[in-house]
Amino acid sequence: HALTDANTLGLPCVAERHAAPSTLAELREALALAKRHDWPLTVLGGGSNLILPERLEGLVIQPAMSQWWLKEQDGAVLVHAEAAVAWHALVMALAQRGLWGAENLALIPGHCGAAPIQNIGAYGVELSDLLEAVHLVHLDDGRETVLSAADCAFGYRDSVFKGALAGRVVITRLVLRVSRMPRPRLGYGDLASRLDAEPTALAVAEAVCAIRGEKLPDPATLCNAGSFFKNPLVDGERARRLLAEHPAMPNFPQPDGRVKLAAGWLIDRCGLKGWRQGHFGVHDRQALVLVHFGGGSADELLGFAGEVAARVRERFGVRLEREPRWAGAQGQ
Ligand code: EPU
Repeated sequence: HALTDANTLGLPCVAERHAAPSTLAELREALALAKRHDWPLTVLGGGSNLILPERLEGLVIQPAMSQWWLKEQDGAVLVHAEAAVAWHALVMALAQRGLWGAENLALIPGHCGAAPIQNIGAYGVELSDLLEAVHLVHLDDGRETVLSAADCAFGYRDSVFKGALAGRVVITRLVLRVSRMPRPRLGYGDLASRLDAEPTALAVAEAVCAIRGEKLPDPATLCNAGSFFKNPLVDGERARRLLAEHPAMPNFPQPDGRVKLAAGWLIDRCGLKGWRQGHFGVHDRQALVLVHFGGGSADELLGFAGEVAARVRERFGVRLEREPRWAGAQGQ
């Protein structure tokens, strides 16, 4: 089963076996089959934050349950969204109904089921700000568990699904809490300046789409996985030293005393914006995004990314960590 069109980086990949269960019963059947044959399992969502190897052995499961519904409970509005619901379509549907909470996360590619893994975030909001619960199924025995948001150990681009539960569960459904009360969060960048004083949720979502459209390449026309590196957290002392040398450097002090730097700015200042080598490049409008022009491989991409990170390390002494996950069996 070819997965080359199922990952936004457009990396060539063939799965030995593939299942797209559209019910929990079908999912459990697939898990039982894999267990009987001792096939390694890989779970994929929309493929927008992944680096795929050329071949995936065993069974690849891509959940296909794609219903969503609203549930009113004690004055709150809860959204239940199954794993294969497209995140952006859900955000727009909620905003169109005047439901607040997800609008800053418009135009993030991928499926709902993958959203908690890296705790998707943009324009001052993270999924964890509106997530109530995650339904999941364990790969080893098919049992279902519901985790509260607190159980998910969310951090910046981080969760329990990258830690203790990595490779052990399939996320089948999200429960989000949204609100009919307007609560615009316009503090990030120039979002506020693009909007009226009392914008609708839909207007906020559309402004976010416009800003993203100006900087981020559309994977449908230029292969990419969004930000390729996380914004690095450095200790206060290092931040002070860097700021003394580069007063214009964007910096975001954190509650724990560390300071978040903008990896895109660091890469840009190394003169790498628009840099191309072979089949890969640094995007010319947002240096944090690596793009694939076609014809390249995962190994070549990792080599290119390593070169970008090495230049930043040399120039600023800051280590960049990759954001998209490696989906192969061995760690990379
Ligand atoms: N900057 C540059 N040059 C560049 C890119 C950025 O100087 O080439 C500067 C900008 O001018 C700005 C700062 O760096 O001062 C931050 O840039 P931006 O607002 O574009 O955001 P980012 O930190 O590069 C993060 C997320 C994005 C998210 C935006 C908006 C990470 C790894 N990335 O990017 O998320 O959309 O903030 O909230 O945290 C993603 O994860 O795939 C993603 C796109």
